[in-house]
This record gives sequence, structure tokens and C-alpha cells, in this order.
Amino acid sequence: MTHAEGAPGSSDLVVVANRLPLDIDEDGGWQRSPGGLVTALEPTLRAREGAWVGWPGRPDVDPEPFDDDGLAIRPVSISADEVAEYYEGFANATLWPLYHDVVATPRFERSWWEAYRRVNERFADAAAQAAAEGATVWVQDYQLQLVPHLLRRRRPDLRIGFFLHIPFPPPELFDQLPWRDAVVEGLLGADVIGFQTAGGAENFRRVATRLTHAEAAPETGGDHLTAPDGRTVGVAAHPISVDASQLDEMARDPETATRAEALRHELGDPRTVLLGVDRLDYTKGIDVRLRAFAEVLGDGRLDRAETVLVQVATPSREHVEHYAEMRDVVERTVGRVNGEYATIGRPVIHYLHQGIPHEELVSFYRCADVMLVTPYRDGMNLVAKEYVASRPDGGGALVLSEFTGAADELGDGSYLVNPHDLHAVGDAIVAAASQDPQEARRRMGLLHAQVLEHDVERWAAGFLAALGVGS
Ligand code: ADP
Ligand code: G6P
Repeated sequence: MTHAEGAPGSSDLVVVANRLPLDIDEDGGWQRSPGGLVTALEPTLRAREGAWVGWPGRPDVDPEPFDDDGLAIRPVSISADEVAEYYEGFANATLWPLYHDVVATPRFERSWWEAYRRVNERFADAAAQAAAEGATVWVQDYQLQLVPHLLRRRRPDLRIGFFLHIPFPPPELFDQLPWRDAVVEGLLGADVIGFQTAGGAENFRRVATRLTHAEAAPETGGDHLTAPDGRTVGVAAHPISVDASQLDEMARDPETATRAEALRHELGDPRTVLLGVDRLDYTKGIDVRLRAFAEVLGDGRLDRAETVLVQVATPSREHVEHYAEMRDVVERTVGRVNGEYATIGRPVIHYLHQGIPHEELVSFYRCADVMLVTPYRDGMNLVAKEYVASRPDGGGALVLSEFTGAADELGDGSYLVNPHDLHAVGDAIVAAASQDPQEARRRMGLLHAQVLEHDVERWAAGFLAALGVGS
């Protein structure tokens, strides 16, 4: 068997991701979809006129394929039951917490696993149909870990890459997964498997060599495995990034500076603006930063009349229990801290449970004196990189959790913290808010240069080169 169904498709480069870059709304219109994966891949794939195979973001809709400004959109339909079992269940209540250091307890349900397998088969079929003879298919993230193997069975002619946007856990945690062997087999179907950090790649190599007959291939410098079927599989870190020059340019636009000033004014012209921007996810440590902020207001190390925290939290995965619980925690904390420290017309925390447009976000970044990125665990954290790319002026400061992938690259100029240490988060907030201006510019200069050089285009080109695709 060469091809699953009929003739191969016409695309030489196909991205397969759970979500399309556009979500369909109730009226059949299309809106940009949330999260770091789409942010990173969309410009890359558009520039290469590829195809994107993914879910349109609502159950039981089956829109026709279409072309969006050179990008071929290939929707995969998912039923309401499958959304509950594959997406909310196995992907986001089993794998997501398991891969993020069991920050929340993962649930293991056989019926969820079966739905995951079934939906992965469907994505593999759709990818097989979209890809031209000898094409490159780049599969994304934890929702689709079985696709590389399933696709290779259907289309041995393809080059297949896989990139995991979230952490890959150490064997001590991964071993909890009852279906661990099948997941490793699924991933080993790729020619190249990319991780955000060297630690993630190393975790995978340890898991794969222990659970399967895969072996290290030392002649390649230790980065490769020989899969049980004898193929060589590249396993390496490819830290993802942002469209840094676009952000830099937007930030330099005088309109952005004007909007940032207007924003500061709307906030009551405080001396210090702190900012958090996240999907409302329990891994992001929104709760710890709110509590640390309350603590430093309480002990007077930051002046409650001169300091404002803006927290923008996009609604996310709202039907998954741990998300609903974290929303309650965050909203109660915002209420409590404002109850204690606000005065009439002057809250100390401005909380938006909303997504905000890209251009507006850059003005927020330009306005923020201190950016708070405090996840308990995060594959990369693009917000950290977006913030520093948006500070060509050399202003601002980044408080960054050491448990993000971004900390591997941005450790030098940021205020690194352990988010499990509430007092340390408070100390870092105070240090960042009261830094000497010259030292501040030195730090931000380092960070800005790092992200401008290691941008998303370089990430994509590097991964594709490892797969054997020229730019
Ligand atoms: P994750 O992929 O877990 O959501 P990242 O920080 O890597 O986390 O990526 C989040 C992406 O979503 C970034 O591009 C960020 O700008 C965007 N984003 C997050 N929160 C918001 C928000 N409230 N409004 C608009 N965009 C947001
Ligand atoms: C993270 C994941 C992506 C996911 C995004 C948004 O970035 O790594 O795979 O698409 O969050 O989450 P959602 O569940 O809304 O797709």
C-alpha cells in the first residue's frame, strides 16, 4: 500500500496541528485561534505556501477546504463526543498535566485513549491526502503524537517531522501513562523529533531506549536514535521563537508609543505598571504572581498608590475541571487583593478575561515596566519573547520562571525566579520594579538582541533543515 486513499495531494509542505490557525464561529465566519503554536507557525507556513491540516475549533462542523491568502486550509471534523474525550479528556486532562510536571493530577481513562487513537487516525488520513509525492509533513504537539507512525504506514514516501511545543517529562512521570509504549512508537514514526529544550530531548531518548528497542546512535554525536525498524531518527532541541522583527517594528511605530502612554494614563499614571498575559491555564502561575504582588503591597515594599498590575487572561479549555477551578482561584484572588488595597476608582489589579488584538498587545508590552512570566512549568513561553522583542527602547524588565523553556535562553538578562517560592517571586518583583535605569537597559539590551537573532524564522528553517528541506 502506498497511499491511503486515491492519488496524493498537491502540497509539498504540510503542517498537521490539532487547531487550524483560524477558528470557525457560530455564523460560519473565521477568527484567529489562540495560543503559542499558531502564533509561531502561521507566518512560517504562509511564507512557504504550505497546507495546514487541523480542527476548526467547534464540534460537528465540516467546512470545505479553502485557500486563505496562499495558505491551503484543510479542516478535520471532530464530533462533540470526541471533543469531550480526545481534546478535553486525553489531550488536556491526561497529557497536559502529565507533561507539565503533574502540576494538576492527570486522569487516565481508557475511553479517552481510544478516542485519541481514533482522532489521530483521522488526522493521519487527512495529512496523507494533502501531501504531494515525497512531500514534507510537519506534525505538531501533544494532541497528535500517534500521527507520525500512522502516517508513515500510509505514506512511506514522506519526510515526517514532529515538534512538541510542551515539555517532555522525565521517565519517572511519563511512566505513569498506561499507553506509554504506543505514544513512543507513534513519535518514533518521525524522521526528526524536536523538543523545546535539551532536557526534553534527553528525557525522550531515555524513555525511548528503555521502553522500545530504539538505541542511541553515537556515531551521530548522540542526537540520533536508531528506531526499532532500523531508521535513524533525529532527536534534538529546537527552541521555538516569535516573529521578532515584526514585533520590534510594531513597537517602534510612534502610534504604539502613543497608545502605550494613553494606556498608562487610563491606568491613573502610576509610577510602575506590572503586566501578565496568558491563556488562563493553571500551569501559568497567575495565582502565585497575584499573591506575591499582594504580599509586596502589604509589606509596603511597593507603594499601593503608585503601582498597578494588569492581568490579561484569555479564556481557555473552559470545560476542563482544573481550568474552571483555576479561574475561580484567580478571580477570587483579584477580588481579595483589590478589596484590600484599592481605593475608589483605583484598583491595584486590572483583570481582563479576554483575548486582545495583536497590535494592542504590543502597546501593553510597551507600557509595562515589569513583565511577569511565572509558570510552574512551560514548554517555552512565547509571551516572554514577545515582550522583549517589543522593547527596542531598552525599557522594561522581565521576571521569568526558571521552569520555562525560555529561561534557557533568557536567563542572563531577566529576573529568574522559582515560582514555588512565593517570597522569592515578591523579591524579584521588587528588584525589577526598582532597578537602576542603566542596569535595566543593559539587561533589556541583552534580551532584545537574543530574541531578534533567534527568531521564529530561524527556528522553522533550522527544524526543516534537520528534516532535509532547504529554505
Ligand atoms: P501557550 O502556548 O501555552 O498559550 P505562549 O506564551 O507560548 O503560551 O503563547 C501564547 C500566545 O498567545 C502568545 O502569542 C500570546 O501573545 C498569545 N496570548 C496569550 N494571552 C493573550 C491575550 N489575553 N490576548 C491576546 N493574545 C494572547
Ligand atoms: C498551547 C499548545 C497548543 C495549543 C494552544 C492553545 O500553545 O501547545 O497546542 O493549540 O496552547 O490551546 P487550545 O487548547 O485552545 O488549542
